[in-house]
Amino acid sequence: MKSQSPFLKIDYLEFYVGNAKQAAVFYQQQFGFAITAFRGLETGEQKTASYVLRQGEICFVLSSALCPDHPVGQAVARHGDGVGAIALSVADAQQTYRRLVERGAVGVIPPTTVADSLGQLRFAAIRGYGETLLKLVDRGAYRGVFAPGFVAQTPSDSAPTAGLVSIDHVVGNVARGEMDRWVKFFIDVMGFELLVHFDDSAISTPFSALMSKVVQTPDGAIKLPINEPALAQRRSQIEEYLEFYDGPGVQHIALSTRDIIATVKQLQAAGVAFLPTPPTYYETLAERVGPIAEPIEQLAELGILADRDGSGYLLQIFTQPVQDRPTLFFEIIQRCGATGFGEGNFKALFEAIEREQARRGNL
Ligand code: FE2
Repeated sequence: MKSQSPFLKIDYLEFYVGNAKQAAVFYQQQFGFAITAFRGLETGEQKTASYVLRQGEICFVLSSALCPDHPVGQAVARHGDGVGAIALSVADAQQTYRRLVERGAVGVIPPTTVADSLGQLRFAAIRGYGETLLKLVDRGAYRGVFAPGFVAQTPSDSAPTAGLVSIDHVVGNVARGEMDRWVKFFIDVMGFELLVHFDDSAISTPFSALMSKVVQTPDGAIKLPINEPALAQRRSQIEEYLEFYDGPGVQHIALSTRDIIATVKQLQAAGVAFLPTPPTYYETLAERVGPIAEPIEQLAELGILADRDGSGYLLQIFTQPVQDRPTLFFEIIQRCGATGFGEGNFKALFEAIEREQARRGNL
């Protein structure tokens, strides 16, 4: 399976939300997505309303239930808004589903074909961490805008694109002691590989209160880091997530850009709220990361973080949670050679906060 992974890329991420109509406008106005397709009452669908949003190669589907007993509504009642399904492109949904179930995956949706005048779309789903579905989507025989039942929407030109290009990685949080089991699932059942890079040891510092491992397809096209909470003196961010999401699920989605300074400027102007970075973080940036093309003053102004690994550097910034529960958030990332995930920033941020504390005389 190693050389012939059936998984080509992330086809789309489906969010289960309380009000897809409003959420679609949020992603359009703040993050620069275009609403490209819709399915709901107006198209003859009675149970759910779904909006398809695109930017670059990124595809999000936002879905809400239209009746009280629908699983999408039940998921939202339990978890709040969040990622209900990670859809992976495959060449043959039926064969892939059968192989995964043979290897121990829990089947949720058996191979299904839906069709309209534009062709056939085949899909199936297995269970991922928590209630997150891993969907297998084969759209090779479908020419329509997204899937049968969806009608194209004319994208509004009121919100310009933010320069977001692709989904770099999707991170899941699982309960303490469960990370290795899920890593094993992705390796043994899904044929993913454990990504080991030189600064792995930096992930579990005393500062971070989390343990993380990254699994990816052999070609690196799909990267799925998995976190579990580590023992710490205070409740960690991972534990807070698990409590408010009521179980494991997607913690953050990293979206890539080729020009993080332009992207973050635009997102901030559109109202996206980012985590603040203490000014002291930038005092040691040059010596920690070495020469980078972007002016450090500009990174400091926008709160953008930087990290270096054996193959280059990366720039990244994290949003605040995008719903009232402190659960899902986004990362914006620009890779300049680096293949890591910004592990050095755990420690650098912690130390920067300590320097601020010390200056206030509180350390
Ligand atoms: Fe990340």
